[in-house]
Amino acid sequence: MPSQPSITINSMPALLQFPPLLRIEDLRIRFNSAAEAVSGISLAIDEGEVLGLVGESGSGKSATALALLDLLPSTAQLTGTLQWQGSEVALHSAAHRHLRGRSIAMIFQEPMTALNPVMTIGRQVAEAAIATNSSLTSREARSRAIAALESVSIPSAAQRYSDYPHQFSGGQRQRILIAMALINRPRLLIADEPTTALDVTVQAQILALLKDLQREHHLAMLFISHDLAVIGQVAGRVAVMRHGQIVETGPAQQILTAPTHEYTRSLLAAVPTLHTDRSKPLAQLR
Ligand SMILES: Nc1ncnc2c1ncn2[C@@H]1O[C@H](COP(=O)(O)OP(=O)(O)OP(=O)(O)O)[C@@H](O)[C@H]1O
Ligand SMILES: [Mg+2]
Repeated sequence: MPSQPSITINSMPALLQFPPLLRIEDLRIRFNSAAEAVSGISLAIDEGEVLGLVGESGSGKSATALALLDLLPSTAQLTGTLQWQGSEVALHSAAHRHLRGRSIAMIFQEPMTALNPVMTIGRQVAEAAIATNSSLTSREARSRAIAALESVSIPSAAQRYSDYPHQFSGGQRQRILIAMALINRPRLLIADEPTTALDVTVQAQILALLKDLQREHHLAMLFISHDLAVIGQVAGRVAVMRHGQIVETGPAQQILTAPTHEYTRSLLAAVPTLHTDRSKPLAQLR
C-alpha cells in the first residue's frame, strides 16, 4: 500500500489547528444522593490519540466512560459540558445518544457478559451494523459482519458465523466485541479494562490487536485500566484518577518515569518489575 502523506499538526498556525475530537469540562456524576462519584473532571482527546485513564477501583473511571455514552442509569445525576469535534452536545440529549455506536463505541471488561449467550455471534455483530443503518439488507449486514470478524482475526469467520458465544475462547469473545464496536467505523473507542479478565498471553494479543486497529483507522482511544504497566503499552498520554478527580495528567513517558503526584508514585511503586522482591507484599496504594 502506498504510504499516506503525514500532516504535522504542531507546525500549523494556531488558527488552523483542529479542535479536539472530544472535550469534557467539569463532569460531575452523583448516584442517588451519595457523595459525587466523579467530581468535576475535564479532559480532551485528539483524533487518533490514545489517552490512558488509570486509577484505583472506585475512582470513577467506568462512571466517566458510561457518562460519555449516556449509558448511566437514570438514578445518576450528570452535569458538565461535552464537545464533540468542537460542537457542544447537550448531555442526555438525542444528539448525545446519536454519538453512541456511531462516533463513540465501547468495549467492556467481561466479554461473556457483554455478549448475548443465546444469540449467534454473527447475528450480534450484524445487528450492531443494522442498529445504525436500518437500510442495510440482511445479506449486506451479514457480509459486513463477516468482514468485521475477519478484521479481528477470528479464524474461518464465515463458517463460525452461526456459532454461539460459549463456543469461543475468552480472547476470541473479546475480539468479537471489538469487531462489534468497530463495525460502524467510530472515531473514538472507549476500552474499559479490555484485557483484565484475560490471561497474560491473551492479554498481550488483544493489546497488540487494539494497537494495530488504532493505527490502521487513526482511531482515538480512551483506554481505562487500573494497571499502569498495561496503560504504558498503549497510551500516548495518561490521566490519573483518584476519588472522582484527575490528580495528574501528562505524556505517558513522563507519568511512567517521573510522576509529580504522590498518588501516581504509589501506583507506580505497586507495578511489579523483574527486580521486584516477590517475597514482600506490593507497595501500599494509600
Ligand atoms: N450504578 C451505580 N449506582 C450507585 N453507585 C455507583 C454505580 N456505579 C458506580 N457507582 C459508584 O461510583 C463510584 C465510581 O465507580 P466506578 O465504577 O466508576 O469505579 P472504577 O474506577 O471504574 O472502578 P473499577 O476499577 O473497580 O472498575 C464507586 O463508588 C461506585 O460504587
Ligand atoms: Mg470500572
